[in-house]
Amino acid sequence: MDVRNRLIVALDLPSVASAEAMVETLGDAVSFYKIGYQLAFAGGLSFAETLIRADKRVFLDLKLHDIGNTVAKGVESVAKLGATFLTVHSYPQTMHAAVDARKGSGLRILAVTVLTSYDDADLAAAGYDFTVPELVAERAAQARDIGVDGLVCSAEEAGKLRTIASAGMVLVTPGIRPAGAEKGDQKRIMTPAAAISAGTDHLVVGRPILEAPDPKAAAVAIVAEIAGATR
Ligand code: C5P
Repeated sequence: MDVRNRLIVALDLPSVASAEAMVETLGDAVSFYKIGYQLAFAGGLSFAETLIRADKRVFLDLKLHDIGNTVAKGVESVAKLGATFLTVHSYPQTMHAAVDARKGSGLRILAVTVLTSYDDADLAAAGYDFTVPELVAERAAQARDIGVDGLVCSAEEAGKLRTIASAGMVLVTPGIRPAGAEKGDQKRIMTPAAAISAGTDHLVVGRPILEAPDPKAAAVAIVAEIAGATR
């Protein structure tokens, strides 16, 4: 894999104009972008097509979950856009529908096991009789058995999930902070090199690049750190 493709920059920005400006600033340093709720619901889906036409890869972080038929139809539309990754919540019906619907396209489905903002008390309040690590492991095994292409996980979980995931599954990890960067609201963070060593394939990085005085230099430095850790 081209080492640049291991860095996914989260375009957590309010408008297509601000996203265009950031993509222009980052230039060739970045080849893979994530579009989440904020930008997707502000024109970001057609901007995703623009990025794809410009030979960038796109991860649509839409965390789908609905009845199987609705998930399948949504996944078919996302596949037609030419996106590379799409997230779904890791409910078996949802994962089955998404995996079936992406067949024949270049789209890969990533399952979100348990949102990292959830702790054991949040799971209990939502009606689950599992701890977070138990439910993460259970859902990761289900995703593997259903044929899901990858998992979104914290860097802390990556080592454990590498042992559960099948060899071909990709692990995609947010919560990355280069040494010395602001943590922001992220609690469980790792440096790019540590996350790669823990078994992650792709790093999702937002604010350490978007809010850097020189975003391109910040992205170049992270790609160099990834390259160093994969040698
Ligand atoms: O700015 P920062 O690098 O923290 O951005 C991380 C990106 O990854 C954001 O788009 C955020 O929504 C996403 N994310 C996360 N933690 C998760 C899942 C997704 O930070 N557990």
